[in-house]
Amino acid sequence: MSVLVTGGTGFIGSHTAIQLSQAGEDIVIIDNFSNSKPEVLGKLKTITGKEVRFYEGDIRDSAVLDKIFSENAIEAVIHFAGLKAVGESVEKPLEYYENNIGGTINLLEAMKRRGCKKMIFSSSATVYGNDNPVPFVEDMSTSAINPYGWTKVMIEHILESVCISDPEFSAILLRYFNPIGAHKSGLIGEDPQGIPNNLMPYIMKVAAGELPYLRVYGNDYDTVDGTGVRDFIHVVDLADGHVAALRYARSHTGVEAVNLGTGKGTSVLELVSAVEKVTGIKIPYEITGRRTGDIAICYADVTKAKELFGWEAKRDIDEMCEDSARWVLKNKIIL
Ligand code: NAD
Ligand code: UD1
Repeated sequence: MSVLVTGGTGFIGSHTAIQLSQAGEDIVIIDNFSNSKPEVLGKLKTITGKEVRFYEGDIRDSAVLDKIFSENAIEAVIHFAGLKAVGESVEKPLEYYENNIGGTINLLEAMKRRGCKKMIFSSSATVYGNDNPVPFVEDMSTSAINPYGWTKVMIEHILESVCISDPEFSAILLRYFNPIGAHKSGLIGEDPQGIPNNLMPYIMKVAAGELPYLRVYGNDYDTVDGTGVRDFIHVVDLADGHVAALRYARSHTGVEAVNLGTGKGTSVLELVSAVEKVTGIKIPYEITGRRTGDIAICYADVTKAKELFGWEAKRDIDEMCEDSARWVLKNKIIL
């Protein structure tokens, strides 16, 4: 039996493909390369030593999904494919609803036609909205403040409904905190197009000399140094969380939401200092106003992942910074 990985050439999907393959899972990938590049496939082969079964296609295309399900015995789907830029989702809401929600419904219909009843879904800590106290616990209310966030909230509800309608269905809603870092090989990592929105990719562009300085969005929050606090998690730890979730889904039915974080908060300036320490590169920054929609502090209660999956994050902030830097700065510094 095989595991279908949608969006498997993207940032988190490619790292998960490696961890799955190294755990002995047989994987099949579908991606439309809307936010990733074909060369990732060669790198996956170099790292795992195995040929990757890959279909270039869109999850909104039923014909390609039926082809995949007829040519492979798909036992479970790990579903990463989706659009993820918050600002863009405000400008182009219909594209986000159509791709993320429409694509997921199309995928679930293809699974239903073939009797495939396990899905691990990429949700986000964004579903905790702006009003819950930290640490975020899985049974808290969910909401959103932008179309991207609403797609995650709605897909969580869709999967819950599917599990109610079919008692044999297993859906795991993995709520990621802030994934950073990269594979130790330095061959794959996050590769944002244009000017990054997220903190670590932005810091890395400054470290590489491609952007002059970091804008720190506010230093008047009620936090350790006034800057925003997030639960950064190494992408390889996150990937291992999917391997553990898949094992859990094999022996359980019903829906479970599970946080994947470290349970520890790190401020923007603490992350800047950690990057400076491991790379030896000074990161100039300027304090500017708060970014609309930001919360002060976000970190996970990680009890449930440990109890259900026996999984917990292992890698610390220094290792996350070192691995991000090895990927982005490649020949510019030696780590
Ligand atoms: P990514 O953009 O690197 O990967 C997504 C992949 O899906 C890309 O390779 C893209 O080409 C592909 N894709 C998009 N729409 C598709 C479609 N219709 N058909 C086929 N392929 C399609 O993003 P990522 O950071 O790896 O995120 C993966 C998932 O995790 C996304 O659903 C994202 O919303 C979610 N997530 C990410 C973060 C984060 O900080 N990176 C946090 C929380 C949740
Ligand atoms: C953001 C999204 C969230 C999404 C996640 C992953 C917003 C409001 N939230 O989360 O919905 O799930 O990305 O894609 O966009 N920061 C700076 N300067 C920068 C960039 C960021 O100071 O140039 C600060 C932010 O204010 C925040 C922290 O760094 O305090 C982390 O920001 P970011 O990496 O964008 O992640 P989130 O805001 O947690």
